[in-house]
Amino acid sequence: MGAIVTGWGMCVPPAVLTNADLAGFLDTDDEWVTSRTGIRERRISHVGMVELSVVAASRALAAAGVAEDDFDCLIMATASADLQIPNSASRVQLVLGNRSAAALDTNVGCCGFTYGLAMANGLIESGVSSRVLVIGAERLTTILDWTQRDSAILFGDGAAAVVVEPGKPEQGVLGAYLACDPEPGEALMVGDLGNAAPHERRCTPYELHFDGREVFRNAVPGMVKAGHTALQRAGLSLDDIDLLIPHQANLRIVEAVGKKLPIEPARVFTNLQHYGNTSAASIPLALCEALEQGRIGSEAKLLFTAFGAGLTSAAVVLGWGERTEALGNSERQLPACNLSAVELLQPSLDFQRRWHREHPD
Ligand SMILES: CC(C)(COP(=O)(O)OP(=O)(O)OC[C@H]1O[C@@H](n2cnc3c(N)ncnc32)[C@H](O)[C@@H]1OP(=O)(O)O)[C@@H](O)C(=O)NCCC(=O)NCCS
Repeated sequence: MGAIVTGWGMCVPPAVLTNADLAGFLDTDDEWVTSRTGIRERRISHVGMVELSVVAASRALAAAGVAEDDFDCLIMATASADLQIPNSASRVQLVLGNRSAAALDTNVGCCGFTYGLAMANGLIESGVSSRVLVIGAERLTTILDWTQRDSAILFGDGAAAVVVEPGKPEQGVLGAYLACDPEPGEALMVGDLGNAAPHERRCTPYELHFDGREVFRNAVPGMVKAGHTALQRAGLSLDDIDLLIPHQANLRIVEAVGKKLPIEPARVFTNLQHYGNTSAASIPLALCEALEQGRIGSEAKLLFTAFGAGLTSAAVVLGWGERTEALGNSERQLPACNLSAVELLQPSLDFQRRWHREHPD
């Protein structure tokens, strides 16, 4: 029995932060950001990660043609949960009106959705679950230091979800690879999510410790190895893959992965230009837009490959089902946002500038 995707939905907040906006408060410019990363703009959320997730999940369930509360497991992939206790999956579950499904968060950074999809497959194949909602969602812009030009330019907010249900044997997750190498883990770390005791505090609350070169150096071989291993486990080769949907971290990483696998650019999907790196949301957001653009046909073979904090790496080979059209639509929307992206960020920026002035080391 394969576990296939029967519904999909996304939700990105409306406020757009362009590279030109960033240049208004950081020592950077559009040319540098575009040429080094491919990113032109990203979204800044005016609501919590749970609210983004509820809308994405509701749209995915409507696309699957089922009621909003009709699932028996919810896997929430996020590294930026609105709350730690209880898990954010249960808050999404509550709003959707479901009172009995299993609900868990997985924090594996940018690999979150890929891990979640592989776990959903296992739960379905073992008979533990019959309809799993997998959400990838992030509100990373509240844990970024907006005074740091090397990392603030990279990330954005968003959420996307899929519904996973039993399908035919040649469909669904055909091969997967999940891994973590903790040794270089400090290259991408938020050491204090506001919960360190004051005498232990060594950095700004929410400060991202980030070594972009180290992450880049590990990302390309990590995503290539993950992709090859998942293909081998599926008994398939790259020639069988209709579309590669890589984690959308940086266009240079995506291009390098494409060259090393190898797979030609026409079979690689990117949308990071518009959203930046949305971590666990990046692959499902790209999946939704690829479907919207008609890039995924009936029974297509897809390869997802990801890399992220941990440092984790993961890949899934997914056999799509027959249907590429949504069965229904959800009426859920985000509340209106009356502030610009820069206005939304201003309080964080003021706080962080003050913090750095008062703690010059
Ligand atoms: C962050 C990243 C874009 C930096 O690109 P890079 O080409 O490696 O750039 P470097 O770090 O070598 O910096 C080159 C110079 O540009 C400067 N610079 C860094 N950010 C800048 C910015 N936003 N604008 C202008 N200059 C910048 C640096 O200070 C450095 O200057 P120096 O040579 O005088 O010291 C790249 O390393 C990357 O994408 N890494 C992976 C990031 C990621 O997405 N991780 C998430 C998990 S997958």
